[in-house]
Amino acid sequence: MAVTPEFIEEMLGRISLSDIVGKRVKLVRKANRMNGLCPFHNEKTPSFYVNDAEGFYHCFGCNANGDAISFLRESEGLEFIEAVKQLASLAGMEMPQNEPVDKEAAQRRRTALDLLEVAANFYQRQLDQPDGEMAREYLENRGLSAEMRQEFRIGFAPRSGLYASLQQREFPAELMQRLGVTGRSERDGSVYDYFRNRIMFPIENRQGQVIAFGARAMGDAQPKYLNSPDGPSFTKGSVVYGWSQARARVRKGLPLVIVEGYMDVIAVSASGVAGALAPLGTAMTEQQIQLVWKLHKEPVLCFDGDSAGQKAAMRALERILPLLEPGRNVRFALMAEGQDPDDLLKSEGADGFARVLAGAVSLIDMLWMQKLREFGVDRPDSSPTQRAAFWDDIRQIGRTIAHNQTRSAFLDDIEFRIGTMRDSYRRPGGRLDYRPTGKSPARPQTGRIIRHKAILALLIAFPEHLALHVEPVVAIQIEDERLEELKNVLISQMIADPDLDAEAIRHHLERLEYTNILDDLFSADMIARFGMPLDRMSSDKAGDMLAELLGRAG
Ligand code: UTP
Ligand code: MN
Repeated sequence: MAVTPEFIEEMLGRISLSDIVGKRVKLVRKANRMNGLCPFHNEKTPSFYVNDAEGFYHCFGCNANGDAISFLRESEGLEFIEAVKQLASLAGMEMPQNEPVDKEAAQRRRTALDLLEVAANFYQRQLDQPDGEMAREYLENRGLSAEMRQEFRIGFAPRSGLYASLQQREFPAELMQRLGVTGRSERDGSVYDYFRNRIMFPIENRQGQVIAFGARAMGDAQPKYLNSPDGPSFTKGSVVYGWSQARARVRKGLPLVIVEGYMDVIAVSASGVAGALAPLGTAMTEQQIQLVWKLHKEPVLCFDGDSAGQKAAMRALERILPLLEPGRNVRFALMAEGQDPDDLLKSEGADGFARVLAGAVSLIDMLWMQKLREFGVDRPDSSPTQRAAFWDDIRQIGRTIAHNQTRSAFLDDIEFRIGTMRDSYRRPGGRLDYRPTGKSPARPQTGRIIRHKAILALLIAFPEHLALHVEPVVAIQIEDERLEELKNVLISQMIADPDLDAEAIRHHLERLEYTNILDDLFSADMIARFGMPLDRMSSDKAGDMLAELLGRAG
């Protein structure tokens, strides 16, 4: 029975070494590694380390080291093929059937990797040729430093030249075709370079070998990005862009973010704020998220804050949810509308991006907030049936978590939130259900509106007081619809995370497009009414003012 290196690679990619070792050794997480007592020699202090990211173990006591296969062989005395069988079944993969050991296949694979390496080199060199001037300018305009060019092996595909160069080295034309670096004209059968006049992004496997290319047009040529076709050693859904570069950064202790595009990966990597990975032009697959977790237990997924971005975030969330378990989690960061991390880093620098990362919300907060909006229950006039539908939906989503204890904990959290929400509706006068119908106030009462604005401003600046005053805050009915909505968002957010501080709350509100209202709430006018800017007021004083303002009826 033959197992190819591709098969082994994919299999090891799907499993976690710590899961396998963990069955025999009690492991404790230490930074990026797991640590325990070595199973291969007697010891009292743990010197055995498991590195999930790279899938190997090492004992500093007896020097035992290896991967999941060697672990099973040595700890259970299995033959190589037996160990592979066990692991393949864990990885949910079928063992290849009785093929003869195929030396030829291995040789073909090596030739393919050689060819792709030669191509990557060719593209890289072309960037420094006279013909690469436009490409160099393009990269410069996009702020890509020489350092990043080197690290990511960025190149330039001229109109032609690769085919000839590969021919010279006697690579089979059929292989070039299959790997997608050349095309063949349907009309006259002539061969041409597939990538022409494009910026080239080599895509590497986890060993740093080039297995495919992404290629960006410099002008408005369509499509904007071309990718190598899927093949035996490259399938888009099972590779992430930027693995080894991200690994180097995570090892230095930086957070890990998941972004959408090549340029985002590079821009984030250059910022020094985080390591970055991207799927290849598709939504993140299960296999990709499992890979990402090998590098970091809680990566931050970045999405555009526009409605398409929010939808994409929810799709990712629903795909990830079933896979959650201790040590495998994600957070979400939504950027301003129409922005990707590359744009954001340009306009607001590393600090701006770090702020967005700091404001990343947990998966459950993201789910709660998005579903509140989706079901319209963040609005004061939501109906009981809307709320029931919301509860039903969110519970159902929670039940998709496969890991038992994680699911229980998650559902408990959901129930707590639902309970708090129900309490707020049960309070007489708490919500619109109890509002007498048909009698809206004849005219806006300006004094009241200003008082309500003052209350909101104080709550946003001093969220620590909200918990004390939830009841009266829920009870006030703000005439202005957007302000009432903001009030409810504020309450939902405090329910979702009682520890949110003022900065985080403002950040959330800004992302939900309340920026204009915030400006109004913290305008010079309002400052005049408080007698000082709110950032100079003490928390105690703010608490007194709130009690006073809320004490007045209505
Ligand atoms: P975007 O269109 O958001 O582009 O595609 P981008 O990454 O911001 O690129 P720049 O900044 O304009 O250079 C996001 C990702 O989707 C894939 C690519 O992987 C891209 O990085 N994509 C996009 C394609 O595969 N083909 C396309 O035609 C467009
Ligand atoms: Mn972009």
